[in-house]
Amino acid sequence: MIVARITTLALSLLICAFQVDGKLRRFPDGFSFGVATASYQIEGGWNASDKSESIWDTFTHNSNYKILDGSSGDVACDSYHLYKRDVEMVAELGVDFYRFSMSWSRLMPDGYELSKDGVKYYNDLINELLKHKIQPVVTLFHWDLPQWLQQLGGWSNSLTAKHFQRYARSAFELFGDRVKMWLTVNEPQVFCLHGYGKGLKAPGLDMNGFAEYLCGHTMLKAHAKVYHLYDQVFKKKQKGRVGLTLNASWQQASSNSSNDREAAQRVLEFELGWFANPIFSKCGDYPKIMKDRILWKSQEQGYTESRLPIFTKEELEEIKGSYDFFGLNHYTTRMVKEKSNKSVASKPSFSNDVEVDDYFESDWKESASVWLRVVPWGFQKLLNWIKDSYDNPEVIIFENGFSDREGIDDVDRVQYYRDYLNYLLDAIDDGCNVSAYTAWSLMDNFEWNKGYSERFGLYYVDYNSTIKKRTPKASAHYFKNIVKTKSIEKI
Ligand code: GAL
Repeated sequence: MIVARITTLALSLLICAFQVDGKLRRFPDGFSFGVATASYQIEGGWNASDKSESIWDTFTHNSNYKILDGSSGDVACDSYHLYKRDVEMVAELGVDFYRFSMSWSRLMPDGYELSKDGVKYYNDLINELLKHKIQPVVTLFHWDLPQWLQQLGGWSNSLTAKHFQRYARSAFELFGDRVKMWLTVNEPQVFCLHGYGKGLKAPGLDMNGFAEYLCGHTMLKAHAKVYHLYDQVFKKKQKGRVGLTLNASWQQASSNSSNDREAAQRVLEFELGWFANPIFSKCGDYPKIMKDRILWKSQEQGYTESRLPIFTKEELEEIKGSYDFFGLNHYTTRMVKEKSNKSVASKPSFSNDVEVDDYFESDWKESASVWLRVVPWGFQKLLNWIKDSYDNPEVIIFENGFSDREGIDDVDRVQYYRDYLNYLLDAIDDGCNVSAYTAWSLMDNFEWNKGYSERFGLYYVDYNSTIKKRTPKASAHYFKNIVKTKSIEKI
């Protein structure tokens, strides 16, 4: 009891320490806040009831693939059983919405028939959220593809778009009376590159320079089909919105030379433009630089056609404009310079297609993740780049957050949120049309290849306790205060 009181006192002092003397900046009227998770990372219940295996079940159960701590999402945060506690936490934070994903193989184990228990689970979760006046935001695909679909080629098989449409239709029919915001896919670039190109994530395919482009091609078509399905069949009655969320780091040119600036621009086009250009640009299609380079390299490598597939005219039209908002996941920044010794690699790869040198500045603060350094000003630059490249769309931040290996006194995460949110407000001052912000993540969870070794949560999860005890960290108190006051101290 005494210990608990001391800890609470310490936490409030810590939060106050970030607020002394600070001039407050307000978020615009109507700006909303949320927190996010994803099915495989929190649910557990991997074989509950009639759920079929997903590619992440297969991947983590196969010892050829490496999860740093040898773990899996078999139990994770056990949200399959503890969802009421999750909703309670979301309510404690006072946020407007909760972004979670549906597990395709839980809802539709064989891709055709619905699972009674799967439907019940998501109905219960949604109803519990609404009971607390929290809006559900649903991601249909956050990386856990049914394994049987993978056996048919997964996202490299264009027919997967049809299956995805069937699954999405069911989700709209079942839950669309209560869910008003849908994300078709989460971070297609990371999923395709790591899962089909580099073999680092499920399904573990190592077909660099080929399969990631096939995967992305199908996903773009699948996204557009689902967008139009909703638009034509459900929107009038359900009045919801559909989009997707794309990952992007800011790429900072290491010098003012035109070579380095072009190199940084090239990475932005290959990372974000790959998916954003076909959907959000006026002309549609992949960025020109991507099409030109991959064709040229493919020819040099002796292929008769480009390794980057080509859309038909109809497909281009279907994809272009298939959005109600621009979803963005952002964490960090990299320095980029033109590669010193450029060459066409005999073995194709995505990184040889982009071909730059990149690095972090040594004084950028580290996190627990090798890829994540704290560079808050990059957020403002990226948002401005999106404004200028895609005609200032409405942007919704669906992920932003920091990893550590700490307990509940997560000072660095508090600082990360304070600084990133300040630069987000600067971007709004610049005229960027950002309407909402989502913190990743509600609680610590299964961090893909890093297992449970990296923590991103506002709530600490004690994985050793049978009830997967969740405890608010300092950052949870801090975030709650931002949400409540709709303001933050100026840095
Ligand atoms: C994103 C991903 C999330 C989460 C986060 C932190 O790429 O969508 O699932 O893991 O990164 O690494």
